[in-house]
Amino acid sequence: MKDIILTGDRPTGSLHLGHYVGSLKNRVTLQNTDKYDQFVMIADIQALTDNANNPEKIRANLLEVMLDYLAAGLDPEKTTIFVQSQIPALFELPMYYSNLVTMSRLERNPTVKNEIKLRGFERNLPVGFMTYPISQAADITAFKAKYVPVGDDQLPMLEQAREIVSSFNRIYNCEVLVEPEAILPENHGCSRLVGTDGNAKMSKSLGNCIYLKDDEKTLKQKIMSMYTDPLHINVSDPGHIEGNTVFAYLDAFATDADVSALLPEYAGLDEMKEHYKRGGLGDMKCKKLLNSVMQELLRPIRERREEFAKDRGYLLDSLSKGSAKAREVSDKTLGEVRAAIGINYFSGSLKLHL
Ligand code: TRP
Repeated sequence: MKDIILTGDRPTGSLHLGHYVGSLKNRVTLQNTDKYDQFVMIADIQALTDNANNPEKIRANLLEVMLDYLAAGLDPEKTTIFVQSQIPALFELPMYYSNLVTMSRLERNPTVKNEIKLRGFERNLPVGFMTYPISQAADITAFKAKYVPVGDDQLPMLEQAREIVSSFNRIYNCEVLVEPEAILPENHGCSRLVGTDGNAKMSKSLGNCIYLKDDEKTLKQKIMSMYTDPLHINVSDPGHIEGNTVFAYLDAFATDADVSALLPEYAGLDEMKEHYKRGGLGDMKCKKLLNSVMQELLRPIRERREEFAKDRGYLLDSLSKGSAKAREVSDKTLGEVRAAIGINYFSGSLKLHL
């Protein structure tokens, strides 16, 4: 049997470059190796954990996310793309898992801590939000996923999932659940893409995103107004690479060949950086280079997106078929989980003892 891969995204908006480099690009590569069974989930229920009073937003973004997937190169014939809310096992498993996780453990999760701060929840945070790492462990384990391609902000989630798996298998003396591992992007600059404003994370709520669907003009404008080095005032001033968004993006997206093709005076990115540090290389020139690289990357994605957008029926049909398959696979795991706990009273061998 092939190893299984699972990931997901919350449909709270269309997907941005952070999603693309952090995970989406990896998924397309993995899909095309033919070595894995890949599942990709639109996490509409997780999106409700902090949007319960705005389900319309989630509904509106379901097909947006699907379009981004297809535009980036996911193929429903090769990857099972499904919707979380359509899979009953994902609601039952968290009930069993939540008994294996302590409150203090949940409170220590750095991703959750950070998100709580970001949303200003304090003590008024929804219980569902607090426990979403448990639900996410269910998403992963229901499919017995061994690999989860994510950005590094999701590592605490995987740690939590592994702990649940090992507790479950130990307590119920079984090997039903599989411990998942992260697949991080190869290029380190991609694990967590900074926002266009230099903030540590590209995030919709911070308003510092480049979206996969941004048109040429919007993309250019976002790049031209990127945060650079506030001390680099005149072109001749020495500049800083560290904390400079334009260079963070060049690290993530530009190859040495891109640099020397567009700016032949440099053999590669390192030489360009040296010049910037010495002084004499202007921000505008760097931004223009970045703009060319990004336009090249995003144009084909945007064009495919526009094509797929013409056929809503195909999008819905693919999601519905993917969800049916996901239901089948996860129901099987659910059956094994129930049997391991011993609550499968009316099926299997236990039936004889009642
Ligand atoms: N937490 C992920 C996000 O914020 C979405 C997600 C839900 C997910 N379930 C998952 C990711 C399972 C990986 C595996 O986008």
